[in-house]
Amino acid sequence: MSDRYCVFGHPVGHSRSPRIHALFAEQCGQAMAYEAIEAPREDFAGAWQAFVAAGGLGANVTVPFKEEAYRMADVLSQRARRAGAVNTLVHGRDGRTYADTTDGVGLVRDLEAHGVTLDDARILVLGAGGAVRGVLDPLLAARPQSLHIANRTAEKAMGLAADFHPQKRGQQQAGVTGSGYDTLEGSYDVVINGTSASLGGDLPPLPDTLLTDTGVAYDMMYAADPTVFLQWAGKRGARMIDGLGMLIEQAAESFFLWRHVRPDTAAVREVLRREL
Ligand code: ATR
Repeated sequence: MSDRYCVFGHPVGHSRSPRIHALFAEQCGQAMAYEAIEAPREDFAGAWQAFVAAGGLGANVTVPFKEEAYRMADVLSQRARRAGAVNTLVHGRDGRTYADTTDGVGLVRDLEAHGVTLDDARILVLGAGGAVRGVLDPLLAARPQSLHIANRTAEKAMGLAADFHPQKRGQQQAGVTGSGYDTLEGSYDVVINGTSASLGGDLPPLPDTLLTDTGVAYDMMYAADPTVFLQWAGKRGARMIDGLGMLIEQAAESFFLWRHVRPDTAAVREVLRREL
């Protein structure tokens, strides 16, 4: 019998994770099955326990369960503790539930795969929700010159910036600042859209100067066509990258945690892009 894994979400029918992990498993010769499970909103822990009781070895966790999975886990990785949410669960040999978050490392790996240099870069992150909190640590570990967070609700951006301030982290790192959109000025090397605005076809109110033709625009969302944010950036000559690669890289890191094998993500990215 194959080893069992799954992704929990609600809804979960749209998830590309089963497809991605099936491609990884085939490529790496791993005998494993990976399915999508719609857990009840009010009993995520019960769904995980039932999965483990039926032989499940690990899972991905998506909306709306990432925070609940964090609270339920027995052992949290350091990066998960900082993110306040998890997307990967591992059923340990000791019976405990180990949890990690691979979204941030997925984002940084995808930027690297596209040849984007974060070292000494001026980074702007749009949004201050859970998705952004989850990627700040790995972005800061890539040693940017500065990292600014802008959000519709300015207080949330400033609160998040304070949480990730270098002094709190006890390390020599770039300053992290936060604001609303109204005070944004100048240009940035890399602008990452981590708001959910793209989902509704919305665009945060951004000044025209933000990106030039040397800048990189990254949307953590992806779709068959460029998101409104990427279209906006493209009109200003910036390079456009969507979040499909981040999705695949975070999956690859989860796969590694479970199977201790690193899949070739570039090949899978090509397949998924064709299927969009
Ligand atoms: P997620 O888990 O996707 O981060 P979230 O925690 O609800 O979801 O955060 C959503 C983010 O998208 C927030 O930064 C939100 O801004 P507010 O904090 O001001 O609510 C942002 N957002 C959502 N819709 C937006 C829109 N139409 N324009 C600008 N920002 C938007």
